[in-house]
Amino acid sequence: MTARLWHDQARGESLIAPPPKTIAQLRAMATSTRMQYLRHRRRWMRSLRFETPAIQQAYQTMTDLVEDNAVSPPGAKDVIAVTAPFAVGKSTLVRTWAQDHYRDIIGDRIHLSQLPTWNREVGVVADEVPVVWLDLEAASKVRAFNLQLLQYFGYPLSGAVTDLTARIHRILDAHRVRLLVVDDTNLLNLRHKDARDVLDHLKHINTVLGQRGASLVLVGADLEDSAIFRDPQMAGRLRTISLKPCTIDTPAEVTRWQNTLAGIEHLVLPYLPAASQGILAGHHAPRIWRLTQGYLGDVARLIAEAAHLAAQEDTWTLRIADLERTQLSKRAQVAAPRLRETAAGRPREAPSVEVAAS
Ligand SMILES: Nc1ncnc2c1ncn2[C@@H]1O[C@H](COP(=O)(O)OP(=O)(O)OP(=O)(O)O)[C@@H](O)[C@H]1O
Ligand SMILES: [Mg+2]
Repeated sequence: MTARLWHDQARGESLIAPPPKTIAQLRAMATSTRMQYLRHRRRWMRSLRFETPAIQQAYQTMTDLVEDNAVSPPGAKDVIAVTAPFAVGKSTLVRTWAQDHYRDIIGDRIHLSQLPTWNREVGVVADEVPVVWLDLEAASKVRAFNLQLLQYFGYPLSGAVTDLTARIHRILDAHRVRLLVVDDTNLLNLRHKDARDVLDHLKHINTVLGQRGASLVLVGADLEDSAIFRDPQMAGRLRTISLKPCTIDTPAEVTRWQNTLAGIEHLVLPYLPAASQGILAGHHAPRIWRLTQGYLGDVARLIAEAAHLAAQEDTWTLRIADLERTQLSKRAQVAAPRLRETAAGRPREAPSVEVAAS
C-alpha cells in the first residue's frame, strides 16, 4: 500500500446498483443485454458490505478511541487492537472505517487526483497523509516494519534501522499523520529472539504518535494469543475490539442472525423479483448459516452466486438447490458437511428460525 493508492481508493466511487427489473422486463431483454445486466447485478451483490450490531459497535468504538487519543495529554496513548479468527472481516471493517476517517479529515480535497497538501512551513508545501495503512509481510521485524512505513510515503529505503526510525519521526510530522493502521499484525515476528525489539519498536511508535495526538491501530488474527497481549506495558494500553462470526447458539443470537439477513434481504430483494419477503431472514436462515457458519464474506459470496445461478435458469429467486450448489470458500466447504452430519444427531445446525416465507 502507498499513500497515493490509499487516496485513490478513498476517492473511488462505490459500484452503482443496477436498476431493479420485473420478471417481464428481464424476459423481454435481448440475450446480450440480459447477460450484461446479470454481470452488473452479480458484481454489485459481491461488492455489498453487510452490517451487524457488532460491526456498528466496533466502528463507533474506534471513532471514540481515536477522538479520546486526540484530546488526551501528549504521551503514549491507548492502542486499538482489532482481533478475530481468520476471514471474519477485520481488515474490511477497519479499512472502511479508516477510509471514512481519511475522508472526514481531507474534506473536499478528496476530489483532487493528487495527494492533498499543506503548508508545513512558510514556503514549504508537503503532502498531507493523515492515515497510514501497512499490510505487514510474513515474519516482519523492525527493519521490515520501518521499510514498509517509508515505502508508503515513497521515501528512500536505505540506511541503518536507527536512521530509518529517525526518518520516520520526521515523516510523521511532515505529513501530519493522525492514524497508523498495522494490518496482519499477527505476521510480526514475535516468536523470534528479536521479539523484544519488535514489541519495543511498536511501543516507541505509539509514543511518538501519541505525542502528536495520533493513534495506532493493530489488526490481526487471534492477537489475544500473541506476545503483544502478554507484554505488561502494551497490555496496559490496549483497547481490544474482538469480532467473531455470527453464531446461533442462543435465542438472542438467532434473532441477531435473522436481523442481519433481513438487512441483506432489504438490499437484494428488489433483484429477486420472484422471491417473497422473508426468503433470507426466515426461509433460508438456517441453511445460510450452515453453509457459511456466519462468516459475512461467505454469506455475500453465497447469495451473489446463488442468485446468479438462479437467474441464468430464469427463476429470479433463490432456491435451496441454488444455495446448495454454490461454490463456497475452502473454509466453509470444510465446515458445512461436518455441520450437516452433526445436525443429523443434534439440532445444532438448525436454529429455531420461524419460516416466514416459502
Ligand atoms: N461486512 C461484510 N460484508 C460482506 N462481506 C464482507 C464483510 N466483511 C468482510 N467481508 C468479506 O469477507 C472476506 C474476508 O474479509 P477480510 O479480509 O476483511 O477478513 P479478515 O478477518 O481481515 O481476514 P484475515 O484473517 O485473512 O486477515 C473478504 O472477501 C471480504 O470482502
Ligand atoms: Mg485481514
